[in-house]
Amino acid sequence: MNDNVMISVSELQKFFGDIKAVNGISFEVKKGEVFGLLGPNGAGKTTTIKLLLGLLEPNQGDIRIMGLNPETEEVQIKSRVGYVSEEPLIFKSLTPKNLFNFIASIRSLEAEETSKRAQEYLESLGALEYYEQLVATLSHGNKQKIQIISAILHDPDLLIMDEPLAGLDAKSVKVVKEVLDIHIENGGAVLFSTHIMEIAEDLCDRIAIMNRGKLVGIGTMEELRQQADRLGANLEDVFLRLTEQDISVNEIVKKLRKSFNERN
Ligand SMILES: Nc1ncnc2c1ncn2[C@@H]1O[C@H](COP(=O)(O)OP(=O)(O)OP(=O)(O)O)[C@@H](O)[C@H]1O
Ligand SMILES: [Mg+2]
Repeated sequence: MNDNVMISVSELQKFFGDIKAVNGISFEVKKGEVFGLLGPNGAGKTTTIKLLLGLLEPNQGDIRIMGLNPETEEVQIKSRVGYVSEEPLIFKSLTPKNLFNFIASIRSLEAEETSKRAQEYLESLGALEYYEQLVATLSHGNKQKIQIISAILHDPDLLIMDEPLAGLDAKSVKVVKEVLDIHIENGGAVLFSTHIMEIAEDLCDRIAIMNRGKLVGIGTMEELRQQADRLGANLEDVFLRLTEQDISVNEIVKKLRKSFNERN
């Protein structure tokens, strides 16, 4: 096993009854890489991420996270991975302070040092004032900041994040980008899903585009442009082409305009 391979997925399948949420995808993420997972709503991104973490069992296929098998070595994987889930925080009746202390204790981190770092992150994300406020009372974006900090407190080797930047304000996005940069500079790797094309184009070394459970494109921006036959295009155009939505968007817009004009 190559030490540089952080995530290896081969012919992965996950079905929910008749729904082929993930239908035979393969890819690798290497050390030092920021890897973006893109796709329309329902494409299978969250299902893929949950499979990587051992939160769902695949119907078929093979997954290795730093050489470990999520189905049998979930605990070892969790100690080396930071995970930001798509769902909001579940520990609503805790304050960030309680939550970070709890994380320090379950991950056997030094309490004082961890609390200092957590507060430093909070401050850099403009949320230190909420340190002792119940998570339930925080705004969506501030809850998201707490989730991100919770995922990085133990200095994981790999970050797996499901739409981590959704709902964050512009300054926080910048700060999180820096945090990811530092993580990568120190030999880490990141896989994250996003719907924000500019962020994917800006942050990712390689991007996988899913559609209806399958990979319809994978590679660097340049490779994706070639796969979409859209040389010089931006990621949005490439994305719409590869997910076969480019024609339908134009048709939808035309139809909406026509029916609006008919009403008025
Ligand atoms: N627990 C479940 N039971 C049944 N179907 C499910 C379940 N989880 C996901 N699905 C279905 O699997 C497909 C993929 O869902 P998934 O949540 O992975 O998509 P996604 O790419 O993350 O979408 P979004 O961009 O909206 O977050 C969808 O058709 C979804 O309805
Ligand atoms: Mg999702």
